[in-house]
Amino acid sequence: MVAERGEHGIDFDEPCVARVYDYLLGGSHNFAVDRAAAERFSARVPDLAAGVRANRSFLRRAVRYLTGLGVRQFLDLGSGLPTAGNVHEAAPGARVVYVDHEPVAAAHGRTMLADVPRARMLAADLRDVDGVLGSPEVRDLLDLSEPVGLVMVGVFHNIGPDEDAPGLVRKYREALAPGSHLVVSAATRDSGDGFDWAERQTLLVDFHTFRRAEVAELFDGFELVDPGIVHLTRWRPDMAQPSDELVAKLPTVAGVGRL
Ligand SMILES: C[S@@+](CC[C@H](N)C(=O)[O-])C[C@H]1O[C@@H](n2cnc3c(N)ncnc32)[C@H](O)[C@@H]1O
Repeated sequence: MVAERGEHGIDFDEPCVARVYDYLLGGSHNFAVDRAAAERFSARVPDLAAGVRANRSFLRRAVRYLTGLGVRQFLDLGSGLPTAGNVHEAAPGARVVYVDHEPVAAAHGRTMLADVPRARMLAADLRDVDGVLGSPEVRDLLDLSEPVGLVMVGVFHNIGPDEDAPGLVRKYREALAPGSHLVVSAATRDSGDGFDWAERQTLLVDFHTFRRAEVAELFDGFELVDPGIVHLTRWRPDMAQPSDELVAKLPTVAGVGRL
């Protein structure tokens, strides 16, 4: 359950993106104000919940794939709340640092992880690479001389077009050991025939979409693993293939690259 009103600086009266996201994922770490906001969004964009769930499902498949390769530590940038099947739940035994810039998400996260010694929540802006990598959370829990799963799932739409997303990834890459992997999903504007992002952009301020070629640039210096950059539901699916109709509604691609 979520913390009580007022505890740890958690705001009960304003919707919080991470809690709205949790509600759309079917989680229980949200308040009435978040549920109302989620319902308002969903009324205007009916496929929103399906998109959020497909995104989290890709994250879990990618994390399980990496643990199968022996990756035992993860840095999850733009994590949201550490629940509803997030990284440490998908990778039992792995060490995980979650990073989110929303103070409310970080406050909730710390409370939720109080009894999980192998996972920490860091309140930071992922664009502050030195601040993230030099934080006590990362230095205490992760060993950067060993492979790391660098998770950047559903977060690039918050990085502006002139903020050099590939340069940002490069700075993280330069700090990682060989055998590390980059996990990305990103909303694309040149897939999903006829899909209109404008409606979403009215809901989500500064929602930035990518061209597929721009997503590929994020993997510079990494070797893409099979099946490459594909629709996120088609990256190593563990259930029946999604319908073409659902694929068309979710113009989001995903990939995993090995350093
Ligand atoms: C759409 S959610 C994705 C959550 C999770 N990664 C997933 O895919 O299921 C995006 C999260 O990224 C966080 N975020 C956005 N920009 C960020 C930044 N510059 N630094 C850190 N976190 C950021 C938001 O607060 C939000 O919780």
